[in-house]
Amino acid sequence: MVQLRLPEHSRIRPGRTYRLDHDAKRIRRFHIYRFNPEESPAVPRMDVYELDLDRVGPMVLDALIHIKNEIDPTLSFRRSCREGVCGSCAMNIGGMNSLACTKAIDSFKGDIKIYPLPHMPVLRDLVPDLENLYAQYALIEPWIKNDTPAGDRERLQTHVDRAKLDGLYECILCACCSTACPSYWWNPEKYLGPAVLLQAFRWLADSRDLAKGERLESLEDPFRLYRCHTIMNCTNTCPKGLNPAKAIGEIKKMMMARET
Ligand code: SF4
Ligand code: SF4
Ligand code: FES
Repeated sequence: MVQLRLPEHSRIRPGRTYRLDHDAKRIRRFHIYRFNPEESPAVPRMDVYELDLDRVGPMVLDALIHIKNEIDPTLSFRRSCREGVCGSCAMNIGGMNSLACTKAIDSFKGDIKIYPLPHMPVLRDLVPDLENLYAQYALIEPWIKNDTPAGDRERLQTHVDRAKLDGLYECILCACCSTACPSYWWNPEKYLGPAVLLQAFRWLADSRDLAKGERLESLEDPFRLYRCHTIMNCTNTCPKGLNPAKAIGEIKKMMMARET
């Protein structure tokens, strides 16, 4: 018989509510996904935290750090740079994948719901398992391949060739795009997804790299590249304003040029 509901252990239950212990003018509620695989039974729940925004920094990450430091030290999440550079604080905030450190609390009205990046195994709370994505990143061999002598100091590029990397080198591999991509949801082991494909194009577009044929050959596969159906969720969600869908289109054009 077809099962239309999530299995019991996957249903998110209501959790605990942590109310403010003082009067405040600007109160905001954060509903946060909680999951601890060491609990028995290990089922996800939503905890609610009331915060006084006059005592919290302006960004969603400030709220999470406040909760961890002042209210509930068991809350787990990743963060490092607090500047939108390391990509580690990527999560689903108010229905969109973004970076907690660059997302202003004031950009939301009312309660804010926070989940881990969608369709990834959850290690704990807001911490997804990115092992598969990193293995896919390794598969595209993200380094310059060039056996010719490098010269005295470095391999030079013209300004025009260097400009071809704009919109690519800025990617911080936060995975917001790949985890917003329906094609990646359905085939995460076989389709490389927008983050890794944007990185693949970053090396294909580099004038110093001499392994274009080999790189394209490795992407010539029914799943690795061609599962992109131009749905554009990736581009809409990228917190760095990049366009992975366009990069994927450029790889497809290179494939076509190679075949003709
Ligand atoms: S393309 Fe954007 S959303 Fe995707 S991994 Fe890079 S920075 Fe993150
Ligand atoms: S454009 Fe391609 S990579 Fe981007 S969300 Fe759609 S299917 Fe995924
Ligand atoms: S903490 Fe580094 S991008 Fe948010």
